[in-house]
Amino acid sequence: MPPLTKGTLLLMEDQPSLEKAAQIINKGGLVAFPTETVYGLGAAATDEDAVAGIYKAKGRPADNPLIVHLSGPGQLENVARDITKKVYKLTDRFWPGPLSLVLPRSEKIPDLVSAGLPSVAVRMPDHRTALDFIRLSGVPIAAPSANRSGRPSPTTYRHVLEDLTGRIDAVIKSSPCKVGLESTVLDMTGEVPVILRPGGVSREELEEVMGCTVDVAGARGQFVRPLSPGMKYRHYSPRAKLFLITGPSASRFPVIKALTKHYRNLGFTVGYLNTSLKGSLNQGTDPACFAAALYKSLRRMDRQGVDIILAEEIDAAGIGLAVMNRLKKAAARTLRVQPGKPKA
Ligand code: TXA
Ligand code: MG
Repeated sequence: MPPLTKGTLLLMEDQPSLEKAAQIINKGGLVAFPTETVYGLGAAATDEDAVAGIYKAKGRPADNPLIVHLSGPGQLENVARDITKKVYKLTDRFWPGPLSLVLPRSEKIPDLVSAGLPSVAVRMPDHRTALDFIRLSGVPIAAPSANRSGRPSPTTYRHVLEDLTGRIDAVIKSSPCKVGLESTVLDMTGEVPVILRPGGVSREELEEVMGCTVDVAGARGQFVRPLSPGMKYRHYSPRAKLFLITGPSASRFPVIKALTKHYRNLGFTVGYLNTSLKGSLNQGTDPACFAAALYKSLRRMDRQGVDIILAEEIDAAGIGLAVMNRLKKAAARTLRVQPGKPKA
């Protein structure tokens, strides 16, 4: 008998455990499972009641749609319609992987999955356990990130238990998620593909494969209709207040020093999120390593009771765009440092 965690089963990655997970799904239950990006909270995408359970367990607003997870591109035609050549180019190149495609929705997928939108977001995760679990379930799996709404996404099974113990049927225990940030959400329903949420697959890579321009929603400050309802919510928030320090890197250090001193004098605990990649996180110099550690670091600082988190901006190229998107959403304030005149 697998161990019980206040009513939430902790399952391993062996075949009998994954069969158990699939059984739970087929009875309308909720199972958190690992992917290469973050842990997902899964239910049968074709079962409206089970999907309603996801919104309840997370405390998720009903107008924020879910991503449907597939075990292979062969399942695509069961969940989406009017699939174009461009879409197949993308699935050939990036699936399995951190790319969710927004496509016209098939009538087999209930309204609730897409929060009433005529489209559906789909992806095939690059994770052996996730793929086995979906295949054994025999249905596409609707899954948001497996966190309580508003908390940073979980990149370990412990994060899932921290947020959802007793609220879901089971969690599959695996090693930490490799990418650490959620998938890129790409809207393929319009003339021009639009990145609704930057993630593990970069704009540069998408443009190269499709041979066309890809827009980024909200870039250049233009008005965007809320295509991805998730965009309007303040996500990824740690309990602490996060200040994002932007501007020339040479001028940031004195500001960080002054802010740290100021808040410590007021009796607050101050944490530093080392986006320069050389210090406390000790993750080397690769932005992908910083991305992989970001949510874990935010959750750790919350557990340590940090009141103020100071973070520096990074170059918004490649995965850096996704990192900056999450930091901006987590930030209570952004402080722009002027060149030569460090002033917060
Ligand atoms: O990497 C990921 O994408 C993870 C793992 C578990 O796969 N999932 C994830 O799901 O991050 P979630 O629910 O936390 O974020 C889904 C995002 C939201 O911003 C939502 O608004 C958007 O995708 N989305 C889902 N369906 C959509 C649709 N039909 N049209 C526009 N945006 C959609
Ligand atoms: Mg989420």
